[in-house]
Amino acid sequence: MRETVRGWVGEARHIAVLTGAGMSAESGVPTFRDAQTGLWAQFNPQDLATETAFRAHPQRVWDWYAHRREMIAGLQPNAGHVALAAFTVRHPGRLTLITQNVDGLHQRAGSDDTLALHGNLAEDRWLDMPRACCQAETIETGHPPRCPVCGNLRRPAVVWFGEHLPAAALEAAELAARNCELMLVVGTSGEVYPAAGLALTAHQCGARVVIVNPEATPLDGVAELCLREPAALCLPWLLA
Ligand code: OAD
Repeated sequence: MRETVRGWVGEARHIAVLTGAGMSAESGVPTFRDAQTGLWAQFNPQDLATETAFRAHPQRVWDWYAHRREMIAGLQPNAGHVALAAFTVRHPGRLTLITQNVDGLHQRAGSDDTLALHGNLAEDRWLDMPRACCQAETIETGHPPRCPVCGNLRRPAVVWFGEHLPAAALEAAELAARNCELMLVVGTSGEVYPAAGLALTAHQCGARVVIVNPEATPLDGVAELCLREPAALCLPWLLA
């Protein structure tokens, strides 16, 4: 099966790769929905990943993200991240990398053009529309940091449940899904939309869809092949 997919990688004029938390699992980043080890097995996303939760408990939510930010800063991209970045260097313009991950590991591996659909954990932004007083130089440190004049809070620059995805990244991802000949869907449970819908779009537009995931997912039905392997092992081989 691997050989077949490697052949498809070699043939495809345009490849789209959609990654999820499993992509970074071998770097040591916890996934969300894996039983026991997944973050959403330990925490309720409604308490941590919504604007309502942040407004109700800003310190709790800020500290949770700050802890993840620090943990990820100490981790490294794995062989799968590196293989994707190396492929784009060898084949400029042939691969569009779309990620749901906020860990920045694709970017740190060298995939500068990664379409980060769910934002970036390393960055933060104003919670409410910034006023003239909301200036970077005067931000008051705290949990979360705030504008000393109007009290506007800084929040993690990630997409929370119920929020829109960054429009430009989503548009570019949809274009890639419509135009690719091969889509690799790596390390995602395929449960969160609109990201998961990109695999359906690719399939409807005639692309071959290949899943790389040790477990079954709801997207397997549109896949031509499912490689039940971990990403850091499989991708370097497929993209060599
Ligand atoms: P999930 O935690 O839902 O799914 C992770 C998937 O990775 C599962 O299907 C695992 O089987 C698979 N997996 C685990 N280890 C793997 C490995 N070594 N190689 C390949 N696959 C592996 O994570 P996502 O699908 O990314 O939203 O979740 C989607 C979104 O839900 C996330 O972006 C996040 C979360 O709430 C935001 O942060 C906005």
